[in-house]
Amino acid sequence: MNESSTVRNVVEIDTTVPVWDQFFTVAPLVLIGTMDEDGSLDLAPKHMVTPMGWQNYFGFVCTPRHATCSNIDRTGVFTVSYPKPSQVLITSLAASPRQGEAGKPVIDYFKTFPAREIEGQFIEDGYLFFECRHYKTIGGFGENCLITGEIVAAYGDDSFLRHPEGDDSETIHHRPLIAYLAPGRFAEIDRSNAFPFPESMKK
Ligand SMILES: Cc1cc2nc3c(=O)[nH]c(=O)nc-3n(C[C@H](O)[C@H](O)[C@H](O)COP(=O)(O)O)c2cc1C
Repeated sequence: MNESSTVRNVVEIDTTVPVWDQFFTVAPLVLIGTMDEDGSLDLAPKHMVTPMGWQNYFGFVCTPRHATCSNIDRTGVFTVSYPKPSQVLITSLAASPRQGEAGKPVIDYFKTFPAREIEGQFIEDGYLFFECRHYKTIGGFGENCLITGEIVAAYGDDSFLRHPEGDDSETIHHRPLIAYLAPGRFAEIDRSNAFPFPESMKK
């Protein structure tokens, strides 16, 4: 065995089961807002979330088992709220099991405010909010599907937004962000460094 392989410490990960529970990865955490068939609000936490490219498209992984998926199929819209670190608990409570006809009663206790361009609600005190029109859903990832939307309106807590005269490092320090450390942990990020991009890099 050569020297590098003795220090590498790489072991095989079991792919006969989902790999994702065997290590940590860093993810965003959002609440997807949709309207149930009876007109009541549904909010559901999602961490498998991503910008869909450089333009105004947003995507997240869901499953047809969740009301979020059928609500979007029916209404053609959804909202995205990005919680602050102080909202981890209510974000988690939004994953409470449904109670038959009563849906998710815990959502009635959430403070929300309405979207403007679409029918929907955001959580009060989040830091970033998107109104999305359903763009396309791609199924077939096992039991999961990728739901994408076009961001038609967006709002943010001004103190979390980037400003030309602002210092990005200070913004994150004074307005920390949540990182979901899948599976099952979270961190509050209040320190960061500028990324060391190569000179003249193009996106
Ligand atoms: C921290 C956290 C992250 C989650 N991330 C996802 C996710 O990315 N995709 C997903 O389908 N479900 C995810 N879930 C589970 C659902 O959001 C949850 O089952 C929810 O209650 C479904 O609600 P619905 O039936 O009203 O859509 C997550 C749950 C938690 C607590």
